Amino acid sequence: MLKKIAVLVSGGGTNLQALIDAQQAGIIKNGEITCVISSSEDAYALTRARENSIGTHVVRWKDYRPDRRSFSEEILRILREESIDLVVYAGFMVILDEVVSKAYANRMMNVHPALIPSFCGKGFYGLHVHEAVLQSGVKLTGATVHFVNEVCDGGPIILQKAVEVLDDDTPESLQKRVMREAEWQILPQAVSLFCQDRIVVNGTRTYIKPESCCQ
Ligand code: GAR
Repeated sequence: MLKKIAVLVSGGGTNLQALIDAQQAGIIKNGEITCVISSSEDAYALTRARENSIGTHVVRWKDYRPDRRSFSEEILRILREESIDLVVYAGFMVILDEVVSKAYANRMMNVHPALIPSFCGKGFYGLHVHEAVLQSGVKLTGATVHFVNEVCDGGPIILQKAVEVLDDDTPESLQKRVMREAEWQILPQAVSLFCQDRIVVNGTRTYIKPESCCQ
């Protein structure tokens, strides 16, 4: 059965756009983005959703802060009301309470702009990640798509892609390249694999079943 996908956003939504483009190009097999939930009414991601006739919900974190539990329960209520099969964090900047990760265990994924377990965890989000990467002097960075569990950026890794750090990179130039070369590619791929039931989770590891197995 076609899987219903909810995308959680907080900002510009270029990863949401990559998912929409992939859906339109037929890259997301057996899945459809049926709703977008934003933690802010100002997120440009909402415009992207509306322009593509995708239903939207706004649950403003500023109305709940610091009550993470009530905020998370409202998100969970919407996910259930919309009969969502897969939840995708795409630049969603609020850490949800474990009521959501438990209800959607191995059915909720996040894209992180670095190669986990480096440059991840609390405080590592958005441009801060790329600032830390440049500060450290590493020559390779990248992006990771992983399942969300109770540990921040700690769930089983699904896909990763490496990206070179260049000598003249700024946090902004590196962020753009990581998005273009890694995030916008591996997030739609991971979503498509999930929708085809091709991701097997075994403890902390995941395995991808070959395409032939699931047709
Ligand atoms: C993306 O780079 C995403 O990986 C990152 O925020 C950006 C959102 O951009 N997420 C995190 O840092 C989460 N830890 P977008 O709104 O244009 O997709």
